[in-house]
Amino acid sequence: MKSKILTILAVGLFIIACSSPAKEPKKNSGWKPEMDQPSELASIMRELHDEAKQRKSTLEKGELAEANSQLIFQMITAEPTEPHMVGPAFEPHAQAFIASYGQLNIATDVATQIDAHNNLVKSCVACHMNFCQGPIPRIEKLYIH
Ligand code: HEC
Repeated sequence: MKSKILTILAVGLFIIACSSPAKEPKKNSGWKPEMDQPSELASIMRELHDEAKQRKSTLEKGELAEANSQLIFQMITAEPTEPHMVGPAFEPHAQAFIASYGQLNIATDVATQIDAHNNLVKSCVACHMNFCQGPIPRIEKLYIH
């Protein structure tokens, strides 16, 4: 019984922590960090999000983007805001993400890198479906159509 209540509490926290930023008023498309110190994982996510936005605009200008973030490798061991934000399926998702990221650098022309970029965004969303649904609408804006 007690553990059930704890689970409910934990799930509640998870939902709050992961969905509240999406509910914020959308004054501008740039997304501002919250007042509390972000977790290690949240900081990595913010950087990856910024990097992907940058890459999108570079590609839309018809130029190849560099993709050499070392943060992707820290994702697996980084501390999340709440321990239950990561779970057994987290690492395979992170590995899939890292593999997708590598494809960005294999691309030698813009069209190929756009495909690789869109695939990467897909792997962001795939992990987020399982672990952190709040930012998904924001992540989906990263797709290049
Ligand atoms: C392996 C799983 C996984 C992948 C892949 C992933 N994320 Fe995340 N993301 C998370 C988790 C878990 C959190 C919650 C982190 C926390 O609050 O500590 C998060 C949080 C975020 C946040 C909110 C950060 C904050 O300030 O609270 C954004 C934005 C985000 N991710 C964007 C992205 C983008 C963009 C990508 C792809 C480039 C991506 N994520 C890939 C799991 C993932």
